[in-house]
Amino acid sequence: MKVLVTGVTGQLGYDCVQELERRGIEVRGVASRDFSLTDHAAAKRYIETYRPDVIIHCAAYTAVDKAEDEQEICEAINAEGTRNLAKIAQELAAKMIYISTDYVFPGDGERFYEPADKKEPQNAYGLSKLHGEEAVQELVEKYFIVRISWVFGINGRNFIRTMLKLAETHDTLTVVDDQIGSPTYTHDLAVLLADMAQSDKYGVYHATNEGVCSWAELAAETFRQAGRKVTVTPVPSSAYPTKAVRPKNSRMSKDCLEAAGFHRLPAWQDAVGRYLHELNSKAE
Ligand SMILES: NC(=O)c1ccc[n+]([C@@H]2O[C@H](COP(=O)([O-])OP(=O)(O)OC[C@H]3O[C@@H](n4cnc5c(N)ncnc54)[C@H](OP(=O)(O)O)[C@@H]3O)[C@@H](O)[C@H]2O)c1
Repeated sequence: MKVLVTGVTGQLGYDCVQELERRGIEVRGVASRDFSLTDHAAAKRYIETYRPDVIIHCAAYTAVDKAEDEQEICEAINAEGTRNLAKIAQELAAKMIYISTDYVFPGDGERFYEPADKKEPQNAYGLSKLHGEEAVQELVEKYFIVRISWVFGINGRNFIRTMLKLAETHDTLTVVDDQIGSPTYTHDLAVLLADMAQSDKYGVYHATNEGVCSWAELAAETFRQAGRKVTVTPVPSSAYPTKAVRPKNSRMSKDCLEAAGFHRLPAWQDAVGRYLHELNSKAE
């Protein structure tokens, strides 16, 4: 089996390549230095030469606030770029794993979203990712769509890293506590994605670490486990206006994983602990 992973210079793509290599699977990680997702001819040339059996599509335009001002660029990468990859995957009869987001949902209420629930993105990034999902479902026979949220991994910037950096200069931090969701450690997700790549249990899935929290709780748990004496003061989202609307409810049901025989990811607190350990090991 040969696997092509897009977004290797990002958080998730990096860990996917690591996990597949650990399993002894032939894998090639690519980023915009290899081809841009907006250059459809270059993408087709590259992928048809490599001829993967599986494409794990982690690359995306991920600057959520900037996307409000750059909607065309965001659509070109996340929607049209994905449509192009989907066509190529189908031509090669390859499996395609498309990484999507909780932002495809309206984000209201308190219930856990099921994969087939109504989609109603509240920002330009979410809409572009939904268009990517639609292209994959329309064009690819052997597809997985995997929605994730609140991502952190060793190869990139994320909320936990930002909090640790701020902790160097602050002993009190105000953090939003009215957005509820689940963090996703890319190291854990990569294990599941590799399992999916080796299976034929196609479909739409949600995959995050287990349990839910607010950003304030995630910050407090990070400081507790890192041994940092920082007081987290919870504040509402209205105290931190952002260009793109963020969903208040990012709870996603993962029952779909068990139903298909996949393992759920470990609890988010456990993932934070292992991530801090990974950061420390890298720093040494
Ligand atoms: N981060 C989150 O909190 C979050 C939440 C939910 C879902 N997701 C989804 O999870 C996936 C992985 O996210 P991540 O945080 O790992 O992303 P990331 O760290 O921001 O990395 C993005 C990757 O996409 C590549 N890329 C961007 N534009 C490209 C283009 N035009 N052509 C080719 N490659 C391009 C980048 O390559 P270059 O370095 O070469 O530009 C980079 O490798 C994405 O699909 C994202 O939408 C993320």
